[in-house]
Amino acid sequence: MSEHAATPATTPTANADQRAVKAVIPAAGLATRFLPATKAVPKELLPLVDRPVLQYIVEEATAAGISDVLLITGRGKTSMVDHFDRQPYLEGRLADKGDQERLAAIRRPSELAEIYTCRQHEPLGLGHAVGCAQSHVGNEPFAVLLGDEFVDENDPLLPAMIDLQARAGGIVLAFMEVPPAETKRYGIASVEPAAESVQNGAEIVRVTGLVEKPSAEEAPSNLAVLGRYVLPPSIFEAIKRTKPGSGGEIQLTDAMAMLLAEGTPVHGIVYRGTRYDTGAPLGYLQAVVQIACQREGLGDEFRAWLKEFVADAPGVPST
Ligand code: UTP
Repeated sequence: MSEHAATPATTPTANADQRAVKAVIPAAGLATRFLPATKAVPKELLPLVDRPVLQYIVEEATAAGISDVLLITGRGKTSMVDHFDRQPYLEGRLADKGDQERLAAIRRPSELAEIYTCRQHEPLGLGHAVGCAQSHVGNEPFAVLLGDEFVDENDPLLPAMIDLQARAGGIVLAFMEVPPAETKRYGIASVEPAAESVQNGAEIVRVTGLVEKPSAEEAPSNLAVLGRYVLPPSIFEAIKRTKPGSGGEIQLTDAMAMLLAEGTPVHGIVYRGTRYDTGAPLGYLQAVVQIACQREGLGDEFRAWLKEFVADAPGVPST
């Protein structure tokens, strides 16, 4: 990680009048849940129908008005950056063939946003990865989008989070409701009603505590933290004060909990749309099937095949 000069902690609402215009996508993790597929191919580049996961995530950021995206990359992950670069040779070949559709499709990633990169030299945890963004982000609020999950483009989440952070300052999280058996897989929040409890139809809560992966009995609610955050710049100073936590990694949750305990307001939006989690094989396969079923020019045929396959597949009980 590059060395950054220490910046003073900002007061909780010091940036409440500023809007997040930059996004950080941490994508330097080891992706152990997807080995061996991810030994040489970053999980962020696994294809979902015809685009890599990371393109959906950058598209989600740009649809929320963000045009400056910092990718936190690591060893063996530079091919992620190539995806957002121009490919003059390939473009020339497609242009010669008059294949305008594919030409537009391969140019699109390079036209989405200004993509910057920063290297996390060792995968020391999500908090550490976000800390690598300090010199790029500066003293402004910013969005963080985890590199292996995204939400349905027809039911966006980030614009409401950015709006809320611009009004309330502090930290804005997003939650999804999970069944009791699944609380042990997520960060779970304790919450109380917020002063402003609904924004454009979305439910808003005030966060009073965060617990990492509690059992069903210990979970303070069924609200699990989803991989979208809008953070104030004071998070960088908190990350520097955060000691390695669960798994020996510097956890973003611990740095956020520190700010919360020190008085930074933390709000959350309860998201009830579809979230795709591509970080492990089951969620990835579900995302492939869901997106293929919806894709224009493919969905009808794929759904018909899928129905037949499920009805006829050996070992699949017909219902
Ligand atoms: P995950 O825990 O889901 O990713 O981190 P991982 O560590 O790559 O995967 P597993 O758990 O070993 O299978 C969430 C996001 O944070 C990034 C990951 O790339 C992912 O997008 N991350 C995690 C970093 O950038 N650096 C880290 O040190 C850890």
